[in-house]
Amino acid sequence: MNRKVKKGFLWGGANAAYQCEGGWNEDGKGESNWDQFCHSEKNVKGITGDVSADFYHHYKEDIRLFAEGGQNTYRFSISWPRILPDRSRKVNEKGVRFYKNVLAECRKYGIVPNVTLLHYDIPSWLEDEGGYRNPKFAEEFAFYARTVFEQFGEEIPLYVTINEITHNTFCSYMQGNYPPNVHSTQAVCEVGYNLVMAHAKAVIEFRKFNFRNSQIGMVHTTNSVQILKDTPEYQIAKRRCDLFKNKWVTDPAILGKFPDDLRPLLEESGIDTSFVKQEDLDLLAQTHVDFLGQNCYTRTLARPYREEDGETNYYPNNVGTGQKRLEGYVVKNWFTSDFDPDTPKNAWGREEYPKTVYDMLMGIKADYGDIPVYITENGCARYEAPDENGQLDDQERIDFMKKYLDWLVKAENDGCNVKGYYAWSSTDCYSWINGYEKRYGLIYVDFNDPARKRTPKKSYYWFKEYINEHTEK
Ligand code: NOJ
Repeated sequence: MNRKVKKGFLWGGANAAYQCEGGWNEDGKGESNWDQFCHSEKNVKGITGDVSADFYHHYKEDIRLFAEGGQNTYRFSISWPRILPDRSRKVNEKGVRFYKNVLAECRKYGIVPNVTLLHYDIPSWLEDEGGYRNPKFAEEFAFYARTVFEQFGEEIPLYVTINEITHNTFCSYMQGNYPPNVHSTQAVCEVGYNLVMAHAKAVIEFRKFNFRNSQIGMVHTTNSVQILKDTPEYQIAKRRCDLFKNKWVTDPAILGKFPDDLRPLLEESGIDTSFVKQEDLDLLAQTHVDFLGQNCYTRTLARPYREEDGETNYYPNNVGTGQKRLEGYVVKNWFTSDFDPDTPKNAWGREEYPKTVYDMLMGIKADYGDIPVYITENGCARYEAPDENGQLDDQERIDFMKKYLDWLVKAENDGCNVKGYYAWSSTDCYSWINGYEKRYGLIYVDFNDPARKRTPKKSYYWFKEYINEHTEK
């Protein structure tokens, strides 16, 4: 007999404004940092999210498809410059109307909206003024967050402040493959700090409304950290990797404070931490999320740093060259990513390690108790195209999802307070600098077709059955 999760468990798909909406300059929307980057010479491939899956005009069809697929929730993000297009802070009513329409459509089908305020896209005017690195960033974000709370109130039951602070910071300021394409360890720390404070200030604004039917959380991209050898040196590398990948974000969000061993380690590494202000730490201590969203794709393997590993950097694989180039990190004197030859990798050199869902959820329980957790993203990237009959047989995605989901259900049964799962992605979409070839969707989108025809993949139907068979009635 199948294991089942409790009745009321949320099952759905996720997407993000810049990745799926299109309509980049429609109805008064302002320019975002991603519009700016994609329209600049820095974008060597010239691929943009200008139209993408055109969710802006297809939201009714998409939400109907989600409901027909047995899903009861949808995770999406609001484009900040669609709501507040410029520095005047004047609200764009047409932008608000669009999201009101999306929410109404969700209500019509009993789909619970899970809404992120910031999923990598900030207004370009703010980027021009230093973006995440500007010490005023947190205040500007808090103003935007307050505007969203005022406009949508309890129409949104699950609010998320920021998506993936760690990944966004590392890509934008460490590796520099995301705008503003900076490569500086000092900047990584300042930006990370500003984003944590932006999150905290948004939570403070949220609490002022005393909503009774809405909650606020943060989405982190989790990486349960593991080591292949159990020696004291490996244990130190594991802790440092956990600090770097997880704890500087999840501790402040859940416990209201940065880990005690973080600042001394940063200073030992030559970071000037004078940007840390006591008044910020006092404010942080008053903020605790109601839930944690965890994007969960793989684990992180750490080993001790060696001098030949070189300088601190993030090595993503944005070209899909398989194991010729692996995804990984070097953090000088802290740790370096390890390599396990026995674990399968995908075309982007990333480990496929399904048990990470279980390890991560049990790790949350051990570190933070019974805080509600949602798996806010999990998914399988593929190069894919329809067969001669126009169908998409993505059995590989089904095999991938089944393994991850079985571990999720087991974690729930073993006492972890996990309350939902979102497949990344609801429909195919723009995959940042990987463009459109790296597909994650349960629903295929024909990006060559001006009408952006949708075709549910085999995994979409399979997911419907899985939900039905694994949820208590
Ligand atoms: C994490 C991000 O939140 C999302 O924007 C991205 O496309 C997926 N992971 C896939 O890499």
